[in-house]
Amino acid sequence: MKILFVASEVAPFAKTGGLADVTGSLPVALKRLGHDVRIILPLYKTVGEGPFPIHKGRKSVEIPLGETLRKGFLRQSTSADIPVYLLENRFFFHRDHLYGTPAGDYPDNHQRFAFFCRGVLDLLKRMDFRPDILHCHDWQTALVPVLLRYAHREDPFFMSTATLFTIHNLAYQGLFPKTSLGEMGFDWSYFTIDRLEYYDQVNLMKGGILTADLVTTVSPSYCNEILSVEQGCGLEGVLAQRRDDLYGVLNGLDPEEWDPATDRHIFKTYTPAAPAGKAVNKRGLQKRLGLEVAPDIPLVGMVTRLASQKGIDLLTAILPRLEGDENVQLVLLGAGDEAYHQLFEDFNARGVGNISLNIGYDSVCARQIYAGSDIFLMPSHYEPCGLGQLIALRYGAVPVVRKTGGLADTVFDGRDGSREPNGFTFDDFTADALWEALQRALQSYRQRDAWKKLVRRGMSRDYSWQQSAGEYERLYRVALGKKRL
Ligand code: ADP
Ligand code: GLC
Repeated sequence: MKILFVASEVAPFAKTGGLADVTGSLPVALKRLGHDVRIILPLYKTVGEGPFPIHKGRKSVEIPLGETLRKGFLRQSTSADIPVYLLENRFFFHRDHLYGTPAGDYPDNHQRFAFFCRGVLDLLKRMDFRPDILHCHDWQTALVPVLLRYAHREDPFFMSTATLFTIHNLAYQGLFPKTSLGEMGFDWSYFTIDRLEYYDQVNLMKGGILTADLVTTVSPSYCNEILSVEQGCGLEGVLAQRRDDLYGVLNGLDPEEWDPATDRHIFKTYTPAAPAGKAVNKRGLQKRLGLEVAPDIPLVGMVTRLASQKGIDLLTAILPRLEGDENVQLVLLGAGDEAYHQLFEDFNARGVGNISLNIGYDSVCARQIYAGSDIFLMPSHYEPCGLGQLIALRYGAVPVVRKTGGLADTVFDGRDGSREPNGFTFDDFTADALWEALQRALQSYRQRDAWKKLVRRGMSRDYSWQQSAGEYERLYRVALGKKRL
């Protein structure tokens, strides 16, 4: 099959979170299955300034958005032998961030991503690549299936192109005032309940869910959860309409990208069979962050977006209990909401010796935390899949997670006897429940032999895309079958 991934972020070019990990690594697994897979994303300023060879071509498009005509240029790069197309428009994408500053989203995001979606479809018609599958990700690309279903309905070029829309996070929907419709180049026929209208606003995620041939999300548990009022973020009714076409496919990891045996950025490489290097990483991390260098004090790590989704409020609630405790160390790396930055800066100003809160996005430091930590915390309020816990497992940091979404599908505490344990879980979204699970992990850490076994079991499991890539392959065929009907 010819498959085009359409995404707003793709590792290693542009990344704010797990979406980029997925769009950067799933194509590699699909290529191994024999498919012609390619990727397209916007040419952000940071991509242009990065270490990637970018080739200029002559192809361009002109996209009308309201009163203005915006020009886009096709650029090309590669990643792991996969062609990566980049859509350039300096007005929209030559900015310091992908979606907005810590103070808030860019006010013209609707136009930026409408331009991207329209540009992708127009460019395809000028290229020698006619995809069987357009695999779109999150609200930023939701207009691709919408345009295909309506504007390109009779277009012979796309007659046999099917769409699969993956929801990575239902809470971010691309919700805009109705005046945005014209600014994105749509007429009022799109402002109806079966298209983009949502409580008198425009909802791009809703459009994607309603018009894609198939809809997936990134874990089986989250797939069930989003059909409920509690977790449906107001779209549970829309999702119920597509219930028969909705699937949960668990994310994988690129086993080469995340491998403590070959990682060039950690202090010393190690393997499940010879894990001694992990102690060197712990020492390196303690030194780097100015913590007491102590091999026997359990080190708890966290690498996260600073957003309420991630349970940062639970963490801040237990900080006073951890503060000054000589039997535990905490290291956090995170960036996100300004309110959390402020809170952590205030905390740091007090100079607490056993806690190191680091604000920023730093992929090297992140790897050193995965490699140096004994325990990895993800007390998420909700979690569509989560990659942090998978990376932590692979790097021998035992996860302590709230049992929700993809965390519930990948971390098991073994208490119900159904699975062998690889971590610690808790149910209630409360500081006490998190505290209790963390205490269980800390006690277990003291039982050295059992702990080593737990670490080794986590490190040894297969978290690769192998199984899920096969599942996507099957779903692409289902989508194509539906398209031909
Ligand atoms: P989400 O996509 O919701 O943020 P995931 O667990 O799926 O959560 O993926 C997070 C990805 O982003 C992981 O690869 C993690 O290592 C990375 N990451 C998150 N925050 C940071 C940060 N501050 N610095 C470096 N990497 C980060
Ligand atoms: C989103 C979700 C996260 C998931 C990632 C990749 O960012 O918050 O849980 O792992 O997408 O699918």
